[in-house]
Amino acid sequence: MAISCTCTIILMLVPLVFVGITTNAGTHKLSPLDQEANAMLSISKELWSNQHNNVSNRCNWPRVNCNKAGSITLLSPPTPSNFTDEFRTQLCFLKLNFSVFQNLVHLDLSEMGLCEFPKLSGLKKLQHLNLSYNTFAGEVPFTLLENLTQLVVLDISNNYISGTIPQELSKLERLVMLDLSANRFLGSIPLIFGQMSNLTHMNLSNNQHFGDEVPFTLPNLTQFLVLDLSQNKHNGFIPHEIGKLTNLLTLDLSSNSLSGPIPEQIGYLKRLTSFHLHSNLLSGFIPHEIGKLTNLLTLDLSSNFLSGPIPEQIGCDPFGSAQHRIQQDRWLYPQRNRAFVASRSFKSLL
Ligand SMILES: *[C@@H]1O[C@H](CO)[C@@H](O)[C@H](O)[C@H]1NC(C)=O
Ligand SMILES: *[C@@H]1O[C@H](CO)[C@@H](O)[C@H](O)[C@H]1NC(C)=O
Ligand SMILES: *[C@@H]1O[C@H](CO)[C@@H](O)[C@H](O)[C@H]1NC(C)=O
Ligand SMILES: *[C@@H]1O[C@H](CO)[C@@H](O)[C@H](O)[C@H]1NC(C)=O
Ligand SMILES: *[C@@H]1O[C@H](CO)[C@@H](O)[C@H](O)[C@H]1NC(C)=O
Ligand SMILES: *[C@@H]1O[C@H](CO)[C@@H](O)[C@H](O)[C@H]1NC(C)=O
Ligand SMILES: *[C@@H]1O[C@H](CO)[C@@H](O)[C@H](O)[C@H]1NC(C)=O
Ligand SMILES: *[C@@H]1O[C@H](CO)[C@@H](O)[C@H](O)[C@H]1NC(C)=O
Repeated sequence: MAISCTCTIILMLVPLVFVGITTNAGTHKLSPLDQEANAMLSISKELWSNQHNNVSNRCNWPRVNCNKAGSITLLSPPTPSNFTDEFRTQLCFLKLNFSVFQNLVHLDLSEMGLCEFPKLSGLKKLQHLNLSYNTFAGEVPFTLLENLTQLVVLDISNNYISGTIPQELSKLERLVMLDLSANRFLGSIPLIFGQMSNLTHMNLSNNQHFGDEVPFTLPNLTQFLVLDLSQNKHNGFIPHEIGKLTNLLTLDLSSNSLSGPIPEQIGYLKRLTSFHLHSNLLSGFIPHEIGKLTNLLTLDLSSNFLSGPIPEQIGCDPFGSAQHRIQQDRWLYPQRNRAFVASRSFKSLL
């Protein structure tokens, strides 16, 4: 009994030690470019359907760019078109430490069928990261974003990611665009996002379980140009301080459970071109200050409990000139319709 146990243990250890030694020795000798070549070889079958397997020529593979030294700067593998079950499993658990691509600036792994977050830590030149339309679940691992200090665009939308929005994102000081939409995030927007001076585009749409606090973090987000908080079960009132977001071009708060009136401070958002409040529980009169939003191209207040006319300044009196009757089919006069619809595009009027 004792002898057979010892034998089994020794038999199991020998191959492990052997593999350990060879890989360590192997990577130790390889130059950074050779490491990149090896990494490309290891993913060529899954990500380039094995049609491009000459790694000496990797800089000419479709959707790969290199710098003059031959180090890869852009990886955007073609979306796999021919998914066999075997292939799907290989992609799902793609094991590659992308950290070997030290000069990577742009990485697009969207729509790849990945199930596990890729290992990216320490890619100090990475500016653009797109991991959307995969099947990542669970919380964002801290190590995913470790030291990605140059990141400008981060798109991890359309996955199954849960947990609160990580505060650590605020360390990405250069971030301009953050898309977390269509996931399962919950909680509120970290207040510290208000200090990310370059963050101007944020999409948190379609995260089913947001609490009611989110509208109250709005006042801190004064730098934003595009903010989409639609489809999130936000409730409560729209805070008066929304008037501080004077840079906004697009604001989407639709398909939540916001109640109370539209604050008159909305009139301060003079740059707004696209404003969506539809499918909420908003009530009261449409504030005439909306008339100050003369840059509006799209205004959608439909499916609420609002009443009163849309101010004439923005050119949508339903019974005005012929021009104003464009798309009248989508217009229901407020006095006759408690659920008031004013959904239309004004592009043709301006
Ligand atoms: C691989 O690519 C290199 C560099 O472009 C080229 O010289 C070589 O002939 C290619 N090998 C094969 C087998 O196609
Ligand atoms: C489909 O995948 C197989 C490998 O599983 C590959 O040999 C073949 O070239 C692929 N076909 C296309 C059209 O990509
Ligand atoms: C990936 O590689 C980098 C450097 O090559 C290393 O620092 C890091 O620990 C590796 N990560 C994992 C999860 O293996
Ligand atoms: C991240 O940066 C810290 C501090 O500069 C450093 O200690 C750490 O090793 C870095 N991590 C990676 C994965 O590069
Ligand atoms: C990320 O990839 C998806 C799918 O390919 C694309 O629709 C989306 O626009 C990309 N995001 C960014 C920020 O480029
Ligand atoms: C913010 O953007 C500006 C203009 O692109 C740039 O000069 C500045 O360095 C950025 N700030 C940070 C913290 O990256
Ligand atoms: C936000 O994301 C959703 C879902 O991914 C998308 O449908 C919507 O167009 C995005 N909003 C903006 C303003 O880009
Ligand atoms: C948010 O804004 C309020 C006043 O508008 C300010 O007192 C507070 O310090 C801000 N918080 C952060 C984290 O920027």
